[in-house]
Amino acid sequence: MAEDLHIGRGSKEEQYLSLIPQIKGLVNGETDLVANLANIAAALKEQFDFFWVGFYLVKAEELVLGPFQGPVACTRIRKGRGVCGTSWDQANTIIVPDVEKFPGHIACSSISKSEIVVPLIKDNAVWAVLDVDSDHYNSFDETDARFLEQIVALIS
Ligand code: SME
Repeated sequence: MAEDLHIGRGSKEEQYLSLIPQIKGLVNGETDLVANLANIAAALKEQFDFFWVGFYLVKAEELVLGPFQGPVACTRIRKGRGVCGTSWDQANTIIVPDVEKFPGHIACSSISKSEIVVPLIKDNAVWAVLDVDSDHYNSFDETDARFLEQIVALIS
């Protein structure tokens, strides 16, 4: 397939509906995990121009930074720490409208204002998380949760 993304317009839902089949096209037939995580991060960044989009992978007892798009970030997060470590611990999507109000939030960048973290689950275990940061407050809602969960399911 051609490796260029068609940028969807319209509501957030319409944008996800345009993006998801394209992500399917990118990951179908590619078995390499890093390649797929990298393209998903890039596709989300390109479509929505989020401040930071990336994956942290569970390695031993920590989350370790994986493929991402955006400024340099913290490399290791312990279970239960920050939004990412909490999402891992609870195996749940977490929406944070204002990062300053999330106890223990890890500020990789002071520019980040709101955040959503979605766990990637296989055989009942979280093996990675998708972290998306915005430079605006209240950027994420249940629509993002629903569609980002669909996107990570494509590689879980
Ligand atoms: N804010 C995250 C850390 C990762 S960075 O935002 C890229 C957290 O609290 O887990």
